[in-house]
Amino acid sequence: MSTTIHHGPRVAARVPADWVDQPYERFSVTPLAPTIGAEIGGVDLTSLDDGLFADIRRALLEWKVIFFRDQHMDRHQHAEFAHRFGDLETHPFFKYVSSTPDQPEDDPEVVRFAKGPKASGYENVWHTDVTWRTNPSMGAVLRAVEVPPVGGDTLWADMAAAYDGLPAEVREQIDGLRAEHDWMPTFGQAMNRELADRLRVDFPAVVHPVVRTHPETGRRTLFVNRDFTTRILDMDPEAGAALLETLYHQADFPEYQCRFRWTQGAVAIWDNRATQHYAASDYFPQTRVMERVSIVGDIPY
Ligand code: SIN
Repeated sequence: MSTTIHHGPRVAARVPADWVDQPYERFSVTPLAPTIGAEIGGVDLTSLDDGLFADIRRALLEWKVIFFRDQHMDRHQHAEFAHRFGDLETHPFFKYVSSTPDQPEDDPEVVRFAKGPKASGYENVWHTDVTWRTNPSMGAVLRAVEVPPVGGDTLWADMAAAYDGLPAEVREQIDGLRAEHDWMPTFGQAMNRELADRLRVDFPAVVHPVVRTHPETGRRTLFVNRDFTTRILDMDPEAGAALLETLYHQADFPEYQCRFRWTQGAVAIWDNRATQHYAASDYFPQTRVMERVSIVGDIPY
């Protein structure tokens, strides 16, 4: 079957068919795009009661990435807030490959992306975080510590809408497929061979479904990405590579995306099970410093 798709995206649903719409009574919600991304107003993330947190969680499921301006959080409050969603992840490779001298050693769950005249950004590839893990992150909380006057936006793509927008025959073709995800072609290239071989023991390549079912909303989401998905199993390699190219390309459609312009103190929370993201690397040599805390996820099915 040909995997070339000649048409653009179709109209996509924001939420699953059985989603029960309830108003948010304790904060404002301003959408950035029809299916993905909303700015939440009137919330201080350092002082939440359980009811308010439950509403934030619901907004995250609904919008897949949500944004909060002017949050005055330090690194510990940031991690404490992220911990409300679940256990925190420690990234096993950043300490070896980060060009950032001040990667916080005493806060191993905080990943610091510090870019400036001596280090330019490289997160400008569409990806879902750590899909090379058996259980990739459930989500992440990203905080802007210092931002350039212009540039350095982050974009997110709605992979449920992307899946829905595929022609029926492609959805049918990919529904039962599985793909390999590996960190070697990315992080592995940024470290010496001996270290990569040592880390390989604990982090072998893993296999995930090409389409996963969101464990909370039940939605089907396209779950392959350019950074970490290396091949489709049980498929002719050339046909598999062509199919992957088509599937990667779905994140490129602006109709599935939202784009956030950062301001100092802004916070984004994304659902890593339903999205990909891309950090625009257009601000060199300006300084851009971000800190990310990720939440442990479950095994995709
Ligand atoms: C990331 O890829 O998690 C970093 C996103 C960003 O710096 O905007």
